[in-house]
Amino acid sequence: MIVKPSAPLEQLPSDLDCDRLPQHVAVIMDGNGRWAKERGLPRIMGHRRGVDTLKDLLRCCKDWGIGALTVYAFSTENWGRPMEEVQFLMTLFEQVLRRELAEMIAEKVRIRFVGNLTALPASLQREIARSMEDTQENKEVQFTVATNYGGRQEIVQACRAIAHKVKTGELEADAIDEALFERHLYTHELSSPDLLIRTSGEMRISNFLLWQMAYAEIYVTSIGWPDFDREAFHQALLDYQKRDRRFGKVR
Ligand code: IPE
Ligand code: IPE
Ligand code: MG
Repeated sequence: MIVKPSAPLEQLPSDLDCDRLPQHVAVIMDGNGRWAKERGLPRIMGHRRGVDTLKDLLRCCKDWGIGALTVYAFSTENWGRPMEEVQFLMTLFEQVLRRELAEMIAEKVRIRFVGNLTALPASLQREIARSMEDTQENKEVQFTVATNYGGRQEIVQACRAIAHKVKTGELEADAIDEALFERHLYTHELSSPDLLIRTSGEMRISNFLLWQMAYAEIYVTSIGWPDFDREAFHQALLDYQKRDRRFGKVR
């Protein structure tokens, strides 16, 4: 995670209101493949560059006082990609985790992985478990990586867990409400995202955080993920601060 150690700590841009920042930002990091193709490079080079973007964004959240960042790294549908690309991504996740864990600990970042983690390669699962355990006391930034994640899959597994409790008598069916349901989601320790950013222009959610997005403000930029820098994030936050979040009420 986090940009090179020599990077200066940057203040919040003066045109942003520190009292109206989103507390939780979610990102669909899209467009790595197109970014690479436009430069005559293999798709995997886009994924590699995307890691640098993510490091800087995480650093930026810490510098600017945004307490939670959740990113979509691999969807339940992404298994359908060519085997070489899937294998590259799994290896990349593991290498990056191994390489960046010490810095995450030093920077007081808490990392969590959400998704169906048991289907990931065993060596990656071990790195994931280690990183979650070693950062569990950290409070600077709550950094969540959705890996083998699908919003529908998350909802189905929550239903299954609840149904099981009803069957064994641990829970009354009538006790199921929104709060209880939320406690069975992978994201149960986090608030819902205030802002969803999608890079590379597609106007869709692609099965990301379906339940949690109920009242997220959506920001789509045409910038490809490898080029999404601090200035692009600044623009997203400026746009967010212009929104009137009514939550179904009237002013
Ligand atoms: C997002 O970039 C990264 C992952 C899904 C892992 P893509 O790989 O989807 O890039 P495009 O959308 O094909 O350009
Ligand atoms: C969403 O991007 C998944 C991730 C960013 C990990 P995709 O590239 O997989 O989504 P679609 O295919 O454009 O909907
Ligand atoms: Mg894509």
